[in-house]
Amino acid sequence: MTQLTILRYPDPRLHTVAQAVTKVDAHVQTLVDDMLQTMYAAEGVGLAATQVDVHQRVIVMDVSEDRNQPLVLINPKIVWASDEKKINDEGCLSVPGIYDNVERPAVVTVEALDMDGNTQTYQADGLKSVCIQHEMDHLMGKVFVEYLSPLKRNRIKTKMIKQLKAD
Ligand code: NI
Repeated sequence: MTQLTILRYPDPRLHTVAQAVTKVDAHVQTLVDDMLQTMYAAEGVGLAATQVDVHQRVIVMDVSEDRNQPLVLINPKIVWASDEKKINDEGCLSVPGIYDNVERPAVVTVEALDMDGNTQTYQADGLKSVCIQHEMDHLMGKVFVEYLSPLKRNRIKTKMIKQLKAD
């Protein structure tokens, strides 16, 4: 397994729209393994392929306390979302140290392929729901700071550029 480099906002590659996976093969398996290792090493709850500069519709996540329940979503599609919305404090491995409120549907039903290429349906609420929606945004080239006001977003951008220069 290889630990991959996570792109950091405002890297323009984070705005790439991912392509659907045509076949869940050994390449995808390797990508998933590498993404899981990268996510666990960074202590994140979710990672989209976009964040490691691979523009395919692949998400890994683990919202369990013990960090032993990996979930892999390939070509995810939201088939139902609740009218009820919830505001959550979100963060992102591509925007380290920044947390802010984002409003999203509280509950979603998502359809995705698993590692065997079979379609699975998941209903998610709480952190899992937030994580699925946040990671699916990445696949569309959207970073959570884009939900914030332009003023806030510009402040974050400036801070991130300063941080990158200091690293
Ligand atoms: Ni993120």
